[in-house]
Amino acid sequence: MIVDLHNHVLPGVDDGPSTELEAILLIQNAAKNGVTHIVATPHHRNGRFDQDINEIKNSIHILNLLIQEREIPVTILPGMEVHLHGELMQELESEIMTLADSHKYVLIEFPAQLIPQFTDSIFYELQIKGYIPVIAHAEKNTEIRRHPKKLIDLVNKGALVQVTAGSVTGANGKDLQRFALKLCQHQMVHFIASDAHNVHKRPFLIQQAYHVIQQKLGKELVTYFQRNAHHVLDGVEFETLQPRFLAKV
Ligand SMILES: [Fe+2]
Repeated sequence: MIVDLHNHVLPGVDDGPSTELEAILLIQNAAKNGVTHIVATPHHRNGRFDQDINEIKNSIHILNLLIQEREIPVTILPGMEVHLHGELMQELESEIMTLADSHKYVLIEFPAQLIPQFTDSIFYELQIKGYIPVIAHAEKNTEIRRHPKKLIDLVNKGALVQVTAGSVTGANGKDLQRFALKLCQHQMVHFIASDAHNVHKRPFLIQQAYHVIQQKLGKELVTYFQRNAHHVLDGVEFETLQPRFLAKV
């Protein structure tokens, strides 16, 4: 059972597939990667896309029917990639879909360049209410790349970290690959996910990513990542490895 916690597979809702056929091709690509459970995470509040929880659920219902008709061994579950914004707490109960509808894990995207000033306070408020923030594609954030210690601080305060499969495989460039693997090696990562958007440019590279991690860092870490994703699906908390200090890459 392989769970993917971050991707854009729903047709016509964001910059993922625009048609049902494209979505099916992408899901077939996931199945070839051994993925059995896809938590669909359309962009929300990123300046281009906003989502409605009921529309997400409806879209997933239709997509699951299409998948069953074609006997593809994959199940789609609801989620959202929420751009970090000042009104997040007010929207939490009514407008934000947690990962796998867990009412616990919230996938949060930072702006590309920086960690917003209010990150600490929003993450704190989330945790007071029993939620756990998951930082999406942390390796791509410029401030985190310059100051990895800031990511350790967030992890030490209870945030979890997702790194993108394409960064681990080198598909997103050698620099990102080196940094993504450093983060994994220093136990600053909790999940590998595809962030898949389409079959051609941003496919599910999750099997390749796990293969690279197994080769370079060992099978135990792969098992850890896979188990962690499974726990999110179950909506339960889990033990994490203690991050090791990483001053610079
Ligand atoms: Fe994404």
